Amino acid sequence: MVRLATSHILLALAACVYGVPAPTGTSTSSAAQGNPTVPYASGNPNYPLWNDTIDYTPEPIRGKLGANILGPHNVPIAKENPDLLAPPTTDNGNVMNAKWPFALSHNLLKTGGWARQQNVNEMPIAKEIAGVNMRLEAGAIRELHWHTSAEWSYVLKGSMQITAVNPDGQNYLATINAGDLWYFPPGVPHSLQATADDPEGAEFLLVFDNGTFNEGSTFLLTDWLAHVPKEVIAKNFQMPISAFDHIPEHELYIFPSNPPPDNRQAVEDPQGQVPDPYTYRLSQVQPRQLEGGTVKIVDSTTFKVSKTIAVAEVTVEPGAMRELHWHPNEPEWTFFLEGNARITLFAAEGNARTFDYQAGDIAYIPPAYGHYIENTGSSTLKLLEILRTDRFQDISLNQWLALTPPELVKAHLGVSDETIAGFSKTKPIVVGH
Ligand SMILES: *[C@@H]1O[C@H](CO)[C@@H](O)[C@H](O)[C@H]1NC(C)=O
Ligand SMILES: *[C@@H]1O[C@H](CO)[C@@H](O)[C@H](O)[C@H]1NC(C)=O
Repeated sequence: MVRLATSHILLALAACVYGVPAPTGTSTSSAAQGNPTVPYASGNPNYPLWNDTIDYTPEPIRGKLGANILGPHNVPIAKENPDLLAPPTTDNGNVMNAKWPFALSHNLLKTGGWARQQNVNEMPIAKEIAGVNMRLEAGAIRELHWHTSAEWSYVLKGSMQITAVNPDGQNYLATINAGDLWYFPPGVPHSLQATADDPEGAEFLLVFDNGTFNEGSTFLLTDWLAHVPKEVIAKNFQMPISAFDHIPEHELYIFPSNPPPDNRQAVEDPQGQVPDPYTYRLSQVQPRQLEGGTVKIVDSTTFKVSKTIAVAEVTVEPGAMRELHWHPNEPEWTFFLEGNARITLFAAEGNARTFDYQAGDIAYIPPAYGHYIENTGSSTLKLLEILRTDRFQDISLNQWLALTPPELVKAHLGVSDETIAGFSKTKPIVVGH
C-alpha cells in the first residue's frame, strides 16, 4: 500500500520536474477496470508552493502556468495565501470567500478591553454562524445583556466568571478556565467578567448561531434603563425616583471593575438553580488519540444546554491531515488556535477552491461541502470545528468507500483490490503523514 502510493508520487514528481504531464492512470497492478468514459484526472501534485520557512517573493506561477507580478504586490498577504496566488490546478469555478482573519475586523476599544467581530457582512458565505473575539482585563465586565441568538464560548486565556437567569427565574454562576465552554440560549440574560486568576485577565471566542448576529445590537441593561422614563423605572420597582439617580446615561458595554471575590456564590434563589449547567469543562476532557493528532467532541449529548452548537477541538501534527469528509446538514465555522492549515472547499458542479489559514483566522464551510484540513506548517495545528447543530456528525470518505461493495468502488475509481483493502472501516478522523 505505502510503497504503491510512494511510487505514484515519485512518478508525478518526476513528471513535474521535466515539465511533461504526469503519466496519470498508469497502473502498477490491475487497477483500471473496463474502459473509462472520460480521461483520467491529472496525477500532478499541487503542494503549497511556499511557506513561512522560505524567504522569497511569492509569484503567481505554478509549473508552466502563470507569470510574475509586474504591478504592485502585497507580499505579506500573498505569502499567507499561497493557494490563492498560485492555486492548485484542481481548483475550479466559483466558491465564495471562506477565510476571515480577525486581524481584518474593525476593533472596538473600551476601557478594560476590546471586541472585534465577524458576521455575514465580513464573510457573506457565513450565513448561519457569526463570531466575536473579546478581551477583558482582570475584573473587567462585559455588561449584563441578552440577544436573539444563542451564544457559545471557548475561553482562550485566563479565567471567566459568568452569571445568568433563565425564564423560570432559576439562576447560575460559574467560573471556568482556558479551554472551557459556556452556552446561553437565546434571550437568556447574562454577564461575563474576567477574574484575576491571570493578572492580565482573559480572552475568549464567542460564537452565535446566526450569521447576521451583530455584537453592536445586543440588549444591554444600561442602554435600556437610559431609555425608560425615570418615573416608570421607579414605579416598576416600587421605589422613589431618587433610588435611580446614578444609573448611567448611556450603555457601558465593557467597563473596568474589581475582580470577583474567590468565594462568590450565586444569589440564593427560591426557584433553585438552572436544571442544566451553562458551562462545560472541556479542558478536563481527555482527548482521543488518533494516528495524526487528537480530538475532543462536545455536543448536547454531554453539554445538554448546547442545543445549537457542537464542537470538535482537533490537533493535527505536522504533515498530518483532518481527513476528507463532510457534515450532512451542518454549517461549520472553523477557528484556528495554533499553526498553519489549508482547506479545499468542494461545492459540487466542479467548483472547488483552496484557502490557507493562520492562527486567529476563521474558515466557513457550508453544509455538505466536501473538505479536508491539512497541517501545512512545521508545528502542531490546533483548531475548533464549530458546527451549528445539536449533535456533532460527519461522513468520512475513507469509511464510506470501505463500507461500499468493492466492485462499485472499482467501477467508479479504477482502483485495485489492494487499494480498497487499505480503506478504513472506522473513521480515521486525523490521518498521519
Ligand atoms: C437570523 O437573524 C435574522 C435577523 O435577526 C432573522 O431574520 C433570521 O430569521 C435568523 N435566522 C435564524 C436561522 O434564526
Ligand atoms: C516549506 O516549503 C519548502 C519548499 O517548498 C518545503 O521543502 C518544506 O517542506 C515546506 N515546509 C513545510 C513545513 O511544509
